[in-house]
Amino acid sequence: MAELLFIPRSVEWNETSITILNQQKLPFQTEYLELKELEDVWDAIATLKVRGAPAIGMTAAYGLALAAQQYNGSIAEFQKQLQKARTYLASARPTAVNLVWALDRLVKSVAKATSVNEAKTTLIHEAIRIQVEDEDTCRAIGEYALSLFQEGDRVLTICNAGSIATARYGTALAPFYLAKEKGVHLHVYASETRPVLQGARLTTWELMQAGIDVTLITDNMAAQTMKTKHINAVIVGADRIAANGDTANKIGTFGLALLARSFGIPFYVAAPLSTIDLSTKTGDDIPIEERNPEEVTHLAGTRIAPEGVNVYNPAFDVTPNELITAIITEKGIIRGNYKTALPALFKEEESI
Ligand code: MRU
Repeated sequence: MAELLFIPRSVEWNETSITILNQQKLPFQTEYLELKELEDVWDAIATLKVRGAPAIGMTAAYGLALAAQQYNGSIAEFQKQLQKARTYLASARPTAVNLVWALDRLVKSVAKATSVNEAKTTLIHEAIRIQVEDEDTCRAIGEYALSLFQEGDRVLTICNAGSIATARYGTALAPFYLAKEKGVHLHVYASETRPVLQGARLTTWELMQAGIDVTLITDNMAAQTMKTKHINAVIVGADRIAANGDTANKIGTFGLALLARSFGIPFYVAAPLSTIDLSTKTGDDIPIEERNPEEVTHLAGTRIAPEGVNVYNPAFDVTPNELITAIITEKGIIRGNYKTALPALFKEEESI
């Protein structure tokens, strides 16, 4: 799959540091940052230098493993320091559950460690495993998602649920990479995704590098595009899927789901099991991050609204389960009846 090789990895482990692709600078600059301290990792996540639910989880996992290499003392003291660092990193962003999922997976991996050295090594291995597994997961999601599309389909997406938001391939963008690999032609319409333009800056950038047809629209062009360009489906990623299937994703997703319902086209959510949070009962229980008003009052550093204007800047919205045609995970495609189908995915996991 030569095309995808041109897309850099968003996160890499280097034994004494983590290298991340600075997604704030894309598409103008391909800059890499070395993260060495816990505070750098927190900042990179909070300021969207690394973003996208799985990539946030991977980065936090490496950050925790890295910080733990400096801890000494007894195993009990080590566990205490680890917990403190876990809580700190978990506070970087509230909505994407992959962040706490990855951190808790690391903490759990050393729960029975008998020595500090053993725990340090285990943490590194577990963090690497999360990244390796995510690549397989995304490929599986891509295969299932591709089965829902046909040659020539025009598919709308929002934000960036692509290769740079994951270990590779992405979730919502994975079927487009696999289609390209198999010689199936699909056309992607990317919604720009105000306020910070993940669609305009990131999705177009990565798809164009892979030679995948992509057309950029502004967010308020979605209805007109569905109508005049005969969009066949909408596919989006997710930051947290509640136990009943309600799904938090980038702000604007809910609106696309309503439009898709109105036009009678399928609305798909593509996400790994690590994004499903059975402990969150419904979408109303999902914490929605509100970000700096400057993201709305400014565009690329230039003020576009009067000083002192009131701003509401939720970074995510929740699409109710009844608007979701199917949820595509690495275990397959589930349609409706999410309340029973989602927990069943995890039962299968446990019995493997
Ligand atoms: O604020 P962001 O850029 O982290 O938001 C990202 C999204 O909403 C993605 O759709 C989601 O995390 C899935 S990434 C595979």
